[in-house]
Amino acid sequence: MHDLPPETPAPELFTWEFATDPYPAYAWLREHAPVRRTTLPSGVEAWLVTRYVDAKRALADPRLSKNPVHHAEHAHAKSKTGIPGERGAELMTHLLNIDPPDHTRLRRLVSQAFTPRRVAEFAPRVQELTDGLIDAFAAKGEADLIHDFAFPLPIYAICDLLGVPREDQDDFRDWAGMMIRHGGGPRGGVGRSVKKMRRYLAELIHRKRDDLGDDLISGLIRASDHGEHLTENEAAAMAFILLFAGFETTVNLVGNGVYALLRHPEQRARLQRSLDAGETGLLATGIEELLRYDGPVELATWRYATEPVRLGGQSVAVGDPVLVVLAAADRDPERFDDPDRLDLSRGDNKHLGYGHGIHYCLGAPLARLEGQAAIGTLLTRLPDLRLAVDPSDLRWRGGLIMRGLRTLPVQFTAVR
Ligand code: HEM
Repeated sequence: MHDLPPETPAPELFTWEFATDPYPAYAWLREHAPVRRTTLPSGVEAWLVTRYVDAKRALADPRLSKNPVHHAEHAHAKSKTGIPGERGAELMTHLLNIDPPDHTRLRRLVSQAFTPRRVAEFAPRVQELTDGLIDAFAAKGEADLIHDFAFPLPIYAICDLLGVPREDQDDFRDWAGMMIRHGGGPRGGVGRSVKKMRRYLAELIHRKRDDLGDDLISGLIRASDHGEHLTENEAAAMAFILLFAGFETTVNLVGNGVYALLRHPEQRARLQRSLDAGETGLLATGIEELLRYDGPVELATWRYATEPVRLGGQSVAVGDPVLVVLAAADRDPERFDDPDRLDLSRGDNKHLGYGHGIHYCLGAPLARLEGQAAIGTLLTRLPDLRLAVDPSDLRWRGGLIMRGLRTLPVQFTAVR
C-alpha cells in the first residue's frame, strides 16, 4: 500500500461528474492509491494504474496478458479465443486479444500491408473527405461536429483504405453508428451490426481473393510470413479490428481536440495564426498535445496477470485484470511539467495516448493524418468556430475504455 495518508476522501469513480471531468479523481488516485483495486460499474474487480512510470511498465510487461482466457473469471472456460461462448468469437482473435508468438506473427503480417507509405499516399483522399464533409454544412452556419464531421470521417477513410466499395460505405456508417451509440458488447442491435459487418467483410475478402487490387484488404490477403498467409478468418478479424480500433478513437481525437481548443482561445488563436502563415509544425505538436491533454482512449484495453506481479507497491494476483489509465498517466506531474496546462508547442511529449510496447497503436500514422487534416482544415475554413451551447450541456459518452463527447454543437459564419 502507498504510505501517504489520504488527506481528502477517495473520490467516487464512474459517476456523471467523473465522466464530465475525471482528472481531479485521477490526480487523487495518482497521489494516494496509484495502483488501486476497484469495482467497475459492471461489478468486475480490476486494478487501476494511474502513474506514468507504472503505466509504462504495465503496458510493456509480458506477464500481463491480453488474452481474456487468463481472466480469473474465465479461467474455467478454455476456449480457443478466450471469449467463452461469445457470438462472433472468430472476430475477437485479433491483435488486442492475443499475446506473442501469435501476436508477433499477425502484427508482422498486417504491418506488411498497413505501411506508413500506404498511409502517406492516402493523405490527398483524407483531405478530400475532410473538405467534402465541411462543404456539406458550411453554408448552414451551424453543425454538430460529432455527427456531421468527426463520426463520418474515419469511417469513410478506413472503408476507402480497406477497399470497401463506395456504394457500401453508408452501411458501415449505420453499423458503426449503432456500435458507438450503444457501446461495445455482443447483445441486441450492436450484436446484429457486428454480425452484418462480419458477414460483409468475410464476403468481401472472399471476393477479393480472386481479384486482388491495391487496397489494404488485398494487401492483407497477399501478406506472407515464411510462406504463411492469413486465413480468411484472420483477415476478417484484422479488417474488423482496423475498423473498430480506428473509428471511435479518431471520432474522439477530433471531438475532444476541437473542444479543448474552444476552451483555450489563446492556444487556438496561436494555432490559427500559424496555419494562416502556412506552417504545419504547431499543428503536428498540437495534435500530440491534444492526445495527451484529453485523449480518446481513457483506459488502455484489458490486461490479465499470468504470474503474480508487484506494481506500484501492490501485489497483483494471477488472473487479476489490470487497467492502465492512460488519461491519468498523461497528466502525471512527475513526468510532464504543469500537466493540466494545454500547451500546443509542448516539447518532450512522450504521452501514452497511443499505448506503449508491442501493442502500440498500429494506426498512429493514420490517426495523425486524420487528426491534422480534420482540425487544421476546420480552423482554417471556419475561423470563428464557437460552441453553440453552454459547456455544462455537453454530455460525455459512458463507457470504460473510451472518452468522447456525444455531441459538439457549434456555430460559425456561414461560408458558401
Ligand atoms: C492499439 C490508441 C487510432 C488501430 C491502440 C492502443 C491505443 C490506441 C492506446 C493500445 C491499446 C492497449 O495497449 O491496450 C489510438 C488512438 C487513436 C487510434 C488515440 C486515434 C487518435 C487508430 C487507427 C487505427 C488503429 C486510425 C487503424 C486504422 C489500432 C490497432 C491496435 C491499436 C490495430 C492494436 C495493436 C496491437 O495490439 O498490436 N490504439 N488509436 N488505431 N490501434 Fe489505435
